[in-house]
Amino acid sequence: MKLTYPAILLNFKSYKEAAGNRGLELAKTAERVASQTGVIVAVCPSIVEMAKFVQNVSIPVLSQHCDPYEPGPFTGAVVAEHLKEIGVAGSLLNHSEKRLKLSDISAAITRLRGVGLDTVVCADDLAAAAGAAALEPSAVAVEPPELIGSGISVSTAKPEVVAGAVKTVKAVKPNVHVICGAGVSSAEDVRKAVALGSEGVLLSSAYVKSRNPEQLLLELCKALLV
Ligand code: G3P
Repeated sequence: MKLTYPAILLNFKSYKEAAGNRGLELAKTAERVASQTGVIVAVCPSIVEMAKFVQNVSIPVLSQHCDPYEPGPFTGAVVAEHLKEIGVAGSLLNHSEKRLKLSDISAAITRLRGVGLDTVVCADDLAAAAGAAALEPSAVAVEPPELIGSGISVSTAKPEVVAGAVKTVKAVKPNVHVICGAGVSSAEDVRKAVALGSEGVLLSSAYVKSRNPEQLLLELCKALLV
């Protein structure tokens, strides 16, 4: 299923809370909330389990990573053509926990686009956001690494980074979407992000580790709609 914006992207990373059936439950919860609220919610599960997610939920599933290679003798690589066959909507690229060189981001975008998949390039700061935008991915996700997993939202702690990324990316390529992430944990965090021009949020720990992920996501989705 195609990813459109505004959207909430849930990255399951390699958290134990999102492994196996627990991850699938989190994805089904996301699917339920997306259908109740009409908000686009995408999940980025563990790469080794992605096929299961595509088969069991009808919301967009994104890979957490894609390598720039063509299919061939690359042990352990994640290649665009295989992602296409699995049926995912696209891929995150250059997450701060899975960095790529700029030339590799560019090559991965070209390969993913070539097979009709979406690309969400993560960027640490404004300079990286500008560089990413120039490559024309579907979206740039600005995430200051020091706030990742902190529970302190980028939209509260560094509003200038969110507003600056929106301005910078749109100046480079107006058609590239901009979202933000790092520490996003509450409806207020989402409201602030939207007020700063963000077209959604990318979050992980607050959702994956929540005692009540359904309630949390419902609140985040409602905040995105306001
Ligand atoms: O990919 C999302 C991410 O890096 C933010 O993580 O745990 O701060 O929501 P978290």
